[in-house]
Amino acid sequence: MLKDEILKELYGKRVVVSGEALAEKFGVSRNAVWKAIKQLQSEGFSIAASTNKGYFLESCGQTLSPAIIEFEMQSSSYCKPLLFFKQLPSTNLKVRELAAAGYPSGTVVVADSQTAGKGRMGRSFYSPAGTGVYFSLLLRPELSSEDTMLITSMCAVAAAKAIEALSRVRVQIKWVNDLLIGGKKVCGILTEAALNLEDRSLGSVIIGIGINCGKQKFPDELANIATSIDNESGGVVDRSLLVAEVLKRIETGFATLPQRTFLSDCRERSALLGKQITVCRGERLTPATALAIDNDGALLVRYDDGKEEALSSGEVRVRL
Ligand code: BTN
Repeated sequence: MLKDEILKELYGKRVVVSGEALAEKFGVSRNAVWKAIKQLQSEGFSIAASTNKGYFLESCGQTLSPAIIEFEMQSSSYCKPLLFFKQLPSTNLKVRELAAAGYPSGTVVVADSQTAGKGRMGRSFYSPAGTGVYFSLLLRPELSSEDTMLITSMCAVAAAKAIEALSRVRVQIKWVNDLLIGGKKVCGILTEAALNLEDRSLGSVIIGIGINCGKQKFPDELANIATSIDNESGGVVDRSLLVAEVLKRIETGFATLPQRTFLSDCRERSALLGKQITVCRGERLTPATALAIDNDGALLVRYDDGKEEALSSGEVRVRL
């Protein structure tokens, strides 16, 4: 679409570009350029237009833009393709359909809102329009079963560092898939894997990430446990840039996954280590202390009777 091409051009150049130059580059009239600029402005992009000089992209405002994500991901193997939806039931569900239809590893689905966002343990993920990013990545990695268990932790580190880089707030990781700012949840990760039944090897992996971004008031039931990047930083995080930043860090994370270097970042940001926690197994709640994250990414806990256990998955809560 012309407007997306113009947006990428202005975003990439970061200088004033004349209407004439844009018209020439895309083989359209200056009037068509002007119309595309008007459309981008109405979508929330702040574009300064001066009659003599041309157009300058001042900021992307609050707009989530697939064109910007694609631009940022040009040299990545991810986002080929990138599919963007204003609304979906769930990006994980969409990617599952695409995986079955043969879409390649690296396919990414981004939505501006979800009507049935999926969380872990059958929970839902609050996914309103205009203030968050909800995206899922399809991969078909060749990993040992031990390394497969590390995917969620590695992605948690990638997302935490991406948020920190773009907003300068400190993010903690609540093992294994929640990111917190100031003790409240800002991001959730849902990793779903499909096994090849013949040889029990890893078939495809769907990594779904939801991040609360814009300044907002959460519904009463979430007000005490959820927050957003902008609520905590006081700034405005660029949602498109955030999606790209997380994906780039996941891509590097996969390249170095077997070395497990990300585990030190995971430990440094842990919201649990040294804390009194409750290990939740269905109805059974067992008090424990979180001791360490081991080299397999498992959470080492000591129960009150002195027994220790390495938890490789599951649900824990910090005791207040
Ligand atoms: C959790 O908090 O338990 C995990 C939440 C994961 C939410 C993301 S939003 C994008 C992707 N699509 C979904 O339906 N869920 C994940």
